Amino acid sequence: MENTFYKGSAYINGKFVDSEKTIPVISTIDGSTIGSVAALSKKDIDMAFEGAHLAFNLWRNLTPEMRIKKIKEFAEYFIAEKEFLATLMSYEIGKSYNDALKEVERSYENIFETIEVYEKEFVNPSVIGPEVNKIKGKTGYFYNVPVGVVLAIAPFNYPINLGLAKIIPTLLVGNTIVFKPATQGSLVSSQLAKYFDQANFIAGVFNLVTGKGSEIGDYILENKRIQGATFTGSSDIGFKLASKLPMKPLVLELGGKDAAIVTNNADVELAAKEIIKGAFGYSGQRCTAIKRVLVTKEIADDLLIHLIKEAQKLKVGNPLNNPDITPLIDRKAVDFNIDLIDDAINHGANLVYGGNIEGYNLLRHTILDNVSTKSKLAWEEPFGPVLPIIRVSTINEAIAIANASEYGLQGSVFTKDLEEARTIAKYLDTGTVNINRGSSRGPDIFPFIGIKKSGFGVQGIRDSLKAMTRVKGIVENE
Ligand code: G3H
Repeated sequence: MENTFYKGSAYINGKFVDSEKTIPVISTIDGSTIGSVAALSKKDIDMAFEGAHLAFNLWRNLTPEMRIKKIKEFAEYFIAEKEFLATLMSYEIGKSYNDALKEVERSYENIFETIEVYEKEFVNPSVIGPEVNKIKGKTGYFYNVPVGVVLAIAPFNYPINLGLAKIIPTLLVGNTIVFKPATQGSLVSSQLAKYFDQANFIAGVFNLVTGKGSEIGDYILENKRIQGATFTGSSDIGFKLASKLPMKPLVLELGGKDAAIVTNNADVELAAKEIIKGAFGYSGQRCTAIKRVLVTKEIADDLLIHLIKEAQKLKVGNPLNNPDITPLIDRKAVDFNIDLIDDAINHGANLVYGGNIEGYNLLRHTILDNVSTKSKLAWEEPFGPVLPIIRVSTINEAIAIANASEYGLQGSVFTKDLEEARTIAKYLDTGTVNINRGSSRGPDIFPFIGIKKSGFGVQGIRDSLKAMTRVKGIVENE
């Protein structure tokens, strides 16, 4: 891998496409150039959407069994290269090798779980006969049918898993796809095209486009062929996409500022373990990372001791050596996190752990205590390993601060008193609340929901199958 230069091609209408202009892909480990991906033109983008449009009728008219067979073939080509994909991910996005491997394996398992749900719940129509509709001789058959060309956009932090979690259900139900990965992450994503090609899919069913956001970013969102979109990324782009697609199915998974509320009745050791894991997994670059702790003053000191103890156990370093904390995606991300730390300290916070840069784009995981709600860190998403502790006088105050966020992805409540946990969970304005655990999208069969600035629509194995369909009724009358 060391001295290999990887070229990521785009894939349009069944053909690999290279471009004169390319985008260099930089290693997160040391900043060296490890490859390049195609910088497509607007004309290329048009071709991808036209290809997807033309393929739609062919693909949707295959039987479900034929589509399933093709997707299973894809899955086998994909999993055969799992070690290679994991290594590439470690270089390109700085994910520890073991976590990257888990991401590939999780995605492979999801493919089969998605197929199982599809076969059980989507292949046959739901039937509403006379015994239910109360009209003699009338039977309604209600099918989930595909919508057409779907635009799927995945972020850098789960290039394979969040890519395939969109692509597979969308294709299974009969749609065609134009898939755009994040630029950092494009190299590993471009491998997916190879497996679709090896599985000999109908040309145009799967298209992969790469390029500079400044040149094709907005242009992609404008294409008139798009009949639905599924997106994970920043709230700003999510809003833009929503404004371009009125009355079209849309799934948006956006930012988060997940709070962990720790009450006087908490098992403090457990809370500390879960918070450290939740805040610093993949260096905090997860939408579901714990991004603030709201703890009552009575137990804050005790919690802090345990948090520091847990933080000291984490290893920092090169993703290929499987540490807990790895380099951030780029220098901009490091600078943004440092700015949040400085601002919190200027507002009276105590830096109690970390705060220093320890190598190329590698920010040691950082804990700040007594963070003021006046500081940016109380409200903004670092997408890095920086955890603010906000001390509160009452649980009502904790709930009020948690709900004052513009985000509403997930939250956690730590208490041994289940009734207390349920009450707090009821009042938290988020898609999901986790009791005595950190936030998480999985298990993947669960619906994954963000409210407020965190998202729109529902993801998850079952929900993603449904998301890019519409209901069509055929009513028979005797
Ligand atoms: O970054 C956003 C992901 O959807 C989070 O997924 O909870 O499995 O890390 P995760």
